Amino acid sequence: MKSTVARLSREQAKELLVRLDSVVGGARGRQAREAMVKLLNSKVPSYSWVGIYMVDGKDLVLDAWSGPGATEHTRIPIGQGVCGFAAKAGRTEIVSDVSKDPRYLQCFLSTKSEIVVPVISQGAVVGEIDIDGDQLDAFSSLDREFLEAVARKASSLWT
Ligand code: SME
Repeated sequence: MKSTVARLSREQAKELLVRLDSVVGGARGRQAREAMVKLLNSKVPSYSWVGIYMVDGKDLVLDAWSGPGATEHTRIPIGQGVCGFAAKAGRTEIVSDVSKDPRYLQCFLSTKSEIVVPVISQGAVVGEIDIDGDQLDAFSSLDREFLEAVARKASSLWT
């Protein structure tokens, strides 16, 4: 039987933005990013796998992640995959059906949709939040709004 999981609600988004501050606490850098991915993955059922990549020269390098398994894509050239595309364009990408997007680099067989949100600092992309969903069309404009707010918080804790 196919089960569907709840998508993010506006109330939950608000609550999580507040919660994020207390969960991250005084942490910065990698520790802060670890706390962020754990919170997002554990609290939002539709976020099956949550990762943060950092820009390293011409590549994105996986820095922190939370989910059922590790990805083989720990280094992605900027410009490649949905991740590399979002980093190059400097804007959020939502893929409602990964099987229909030729840019998609597969990590998990269960993934059906994906959202990638750049983290921007002083006008430059310094990294991104990458989330996989096991349902088609798991991400809406609310997820975009919410994760762009999370990315702004991440940016201030980046180093
Ligand atoms: N699917 C991504 C690669 C990263 S994994 O989802 C963790 C992409 O197409 O860039």
